Amino acid sequence: MSFEVLHANKKSWDKVADRFYGRNPLPEYGPFAPSEEELYLFGDVKGAKILEIGCGSGHSLQYMDQKNAGELWGLDLSKKQIKAANKLLKNSNSTINLFESPMEEDPGLPDNYFDIVFSIFALGWTTNLHKTLSNVNKYLKPGGTFIFSWEHPLFNRVSSKEDSLIFNKPYHEEGPYTHEAWTDPAIMQQYRLSTYVNSLINHGFKINRIVEDVRLSEDDIKKHSNSWYLYEKAKFLPTTLIIKSQKC
Ligand SMILES: C[S@@+](CC[C@H](N)C(=O)[O-])C[C@H]1O[C@@H](n2cnc3c(N)ncnc32)[C@H](O)[C@@H]1O
Repeated sequence: MSFEVLHANKKSWDKVADRFYGRNPLPEYGPFAPSEEELYLFGDVKGAKILEIGCGSGHSLQYMDQKNAGELWGLDLSKKQIKAANKLLKNSNSTINLFESPMEEDPGLPDNYFDIVFSIFALGWTTNLHKTLSNVNKYLKPGGTFIFSWEHPLFNRVSSKEDSLIFNKPYHEEGPYTHEAWTDPAIMQQYRLSTYVNSLINHGFKINRIVEDVRLSEDDIKKHSNSWYLYEKAKFLPTTLIIKSQKC
């Protein structure tokens, strides 16, 4: 099952990669979310060894390069995304190492090595949260930081109709689903907030901070509002979930 899902998702991402080129990377964490410039969750990354899970076109890694990170590593399922990221990061000051690989597998990354592992809007694609989090834990140095953002678990379970919000899926339901805003066949996973938190704890992480805030300035509304990330929904619900944790 998970092999088939990964195969379909890879095909889908290779097809849509151009459309997502450089879309909302760091310092943005996600639609209507406070940015890294405001949250400063990464702190000073000068000289740090950093890995991004689901690095896409490499724009968040580029942001880390601009902040003088030491080594930048990334992995992504899509061949096209890795090709784009390699091109984008060609003239970086930091050392660059990119892998075309699902996050559920270790493509040969060093253990106990990274100061920071992060993932911007990619973790909810994993077909195996358990394997992915054990990999992240393995890659990090003791005391290392894991930061991720993803669509808030409430957001896709609620739709907006006229002036009302309607629950169209039980919050309790977890597992694979086909995202209605996704035109090519692609399967994402939905979890509850408690599942993310408990999985992190069970995989040896300490939670430092959970962010569910929204930012609804004129600028945010202009930048983020679209048919899926509706301002009308964001007024009532968090759009983005951000969790900062630390390997114990
Ligand atoms: C929204 S993009 C991420 C953008 C990127 N993090 C950034 O900040 O610019 C999501 C990425 O997750 C990747 N992806 C999807 N499923 C994956 C998996 N199982 N393992 C690794 N990467 C995956 C996709 O190929 C896509 O590039």
